Amino acid sequence: MDIEILNALLKPKSVAVIGASATPGKIGHTVLLNLQESKYKGGIYPINPKSDEILGFKCYKSVLNVKEQIDAAIIVVPAKFVLQIVDECGKKGIKGLLVITSGFAEVGKDDLEKEVVAKSRSYGMRVLGPNIVGVLSNSDDFNGSFAPFLPYKGTASLVSQSGALLIGIDAQTYTRGIGFDKLISIGNMSDVNFADTIEWLDQDEKTSCISLYVEGLNDGRCVIDKGRKATKPIIALKAGSSAHGAVAAASHTGSLAGSSKIYKSAFAQAGIIQAEDLDNLFDRTLVLSLQPPMKGDNVLIITNGGGVGVLGTDSAEKFGVPLKYTPPELQEKLKKYMPSFGSAKNPVDLTGMAGNDWYHDTVKIAFNHEWVDGLVVLYCETAMTNPLEIAKSIKKSVDDTGIKNKPIIASFVGGERSDKAMRWLVKNGIPAYAGPDVALNAISALKEYAKIREDSKDIPTTYDDANREKAMDVINYARNEERIALTEIEAKHVFAAYGLPVTRAKIAKSEEEAVSFANEIGFPIVMKIVSPDILHKSDAGGVIVDVNSIEDVRKFFNEIMENAKVYKADANIHGVVIQEMAPWGTEVILGSVNDPTFGPTMMFGLGGIFVEVLKDVTFRVAPFSKRQAAEMIGEINAAPILIGIRGEKPKDREALSDTICRYANMIYDLRDEINESDANPVLVYEEGDGLKVADARILLTKK
Ligand code: ACO
Repeated sequence: MDIEILNALLKPKSVAVIGASATPGKIGHTVLLNLQESKYKGGIYPINPKSDEILGFKCYKSVLNVKEQIDAAIIVVPAKFVLQIVDECGKKGIKGLLVITSGFAEVGKDDLEKEVVAKSRSYGMRVLGPNIVGVLSNSDDFNGSFAPFLPYKGTASLVSQSGALLIGIDAQTYTRGIGFDKLISIGNMSDVNFADTIEWLDQDEKTSCISLYVEGLNDGRCVIDKGRKATKPIIALKAGSSAHGAVAAASHTGSLAGSSKIYKSAFAQAGIIQAEDLDNLFDRTLVLSLQPPMKGDNVLIITNGGGVGVLGTDSAEKFGVPLKYTPPELQEKLKKYMPSFGSAKNPVDLTGMAGNDWYHDTVKIAFNHEWVDGLVVLYCETAMTNPLEIAKSIKKSVDDTGIKNKPIIASFVGGERSDKAMRWLVKNGIPAYAGPDVALNAISALKEYAKIREDSKDIPTTYDDANREKAMDVINYARNEERIALTEIEAKHVFAAYGLPVTRAKIAKSEEEAVSFANEIGFPIVMKIVSPDILHKSDAGGVIVDVNSIEDVRKFFNEIMENAKVYKADANIHGVVIQEMAPWGTEVILGSVNDPTFGPTMMFGLGGIFVEVLKDVTFRVAPFSKRQAAEMIGEINAAPILIGIRGEKPKDREALSDTICRYANMIYDLRDEINESDANPVLVYEEGDGLKVADARILLTKK
């Protein structure tokens, strides 16, 4: 990252507004007015050939007429003039361009956009946009946009791909009382993209949490890389699920890989928390910007109402932070501050009699206790208490402990007085929400943050025995025949080169060869048609399992060959594969897609018909660690089947993790070659007995 250039772009010391207009209501007028009204201290240089002065600022015909140095130019002239403006800015030595103008790639004018970037880069300038609202920064008193005002002050910063949404969010920061320092509209991302802004905001001392509104990334792997390296929490709201997954694909994995599922995994791998919707983005941004990660599992709820306590308990379970009983010794301490009909278990119910002092003392004792990893304080308005005083008691008790490395969150259920008290809490660094469910969701975000930060440090597992050369021989053979579909046996050779346990198999071109190979491999065997033109072998009557005699081998060899000819008369038939018949086990599927955003991505799920009906699958961007592979196994709904239920012995998850990880290495290593692949079914046996890849499919990239 060229920090100097990005500083000039995102917190410029001086700025030209090219296309500044004297006509109120025009964007070029609004941007200039916003700079003025935000009390921007840097140099402001309106550029317009027709005016000498706008809003009291001296106006110039061109940036080349300005003597002073200019860091950034905000461009608000129609698209057809932008290239010429870029030239002038380059000659002037401007470092960054904020191109508000629309009418580029978003309307199909990709070439014009590329030209703008190429020309800018030739002068060493970076481009934000085009098609943006601009940049807003509270700490720089900089409203370089046509959004009406700077956001409510705070320490989160938001990067938004939607300009209109950014303006809406800007306004909502006030109604929600959630503060931001910077709002960055990223538009078409022709040059500066999410990865750049993540990296830059991570070093920005005024930003404590990075919030993203994402429609689609153009730099998926780079975002994973920058996300992993970031030291601040990042939260993303991903909108839109692409049609990519719906496109009929030749492999199971291709059709199951809806991009939203892949985004979910990729964000987790990047250490990025996800938000469900806009409300959730605000709520989670608030907590991540104010509170530290929650390092353990123990959430304690303190409440004055049983009802909100139960709602909180339900939500804790729903959001993955189920409550546990308070340790007896802590219960004893807390019991002093409640009537006999209160409860010191978890939730700690101080009852409706709770006043400021009880809240103060119990919060202090609980927050100080080592068992408590995170505290949620619930309060319902009562006639005997004043919400603001309760809020102040909570804050005082936290300050009294001096603890800063574990989180505290509040939820006040009430009316205007509670709203006011919660605003006070937020201003004083304690996130507060109107609903207990929202508070529990917020604390779960801190738990998720702690976990995925840890996970994202994982180093991918590598294997020394992978034999790329051997795999490439098979791939090159197919390419020489101008094929992109490998036969099953070819795919198995590629898998075997990366250490995947495939069933033994040989291709028989004649009945005699079939008999000889069957004797060599040993009965029972499986016989399958081998043809690059027949991907769905069963549909073509090309698969016979459990063949037990030489007579049957002869009979089925001829039958399979006949069926194939009927199915596709012009099919190129390599022969019939004679394959070891692996004993039946639990069927799982391993597969891959070359995702347009994230590249080689691995899928794992329960196999057989379940994969199609239940779509019980999970994804990871390859490569990854063996620990991540083990997590994938635990993530599917059918995980208990592999762990062992109802007296069934546990399956060999160690061997399965290893195979998943090897597979991920293979698709990453061969990312320029493999477009889609499946190992389906993979038969998993009991612990210690390993697994077998029974069928394999690889589709190569088109070159
Ligand atoms: N140098 C300096 N000024 C120039 C130049 C030049 N080479 N050429 C023209 N200008 C002046 C014009 O004379 C005009 O000033 P004036 O009002 O004094 O006449 C000014 O620049 C603007 O030019 P106009 O032709 O009047 O263009 P207009 O203001 O109507 O539109 C704009 C320009 C706003 C850039 C428009 O083309 C556009 O892209 N609008 C959409 C912007 C947008 O919405 N972006 C965010 C997308 S996200 C979301 O949807 C919220």
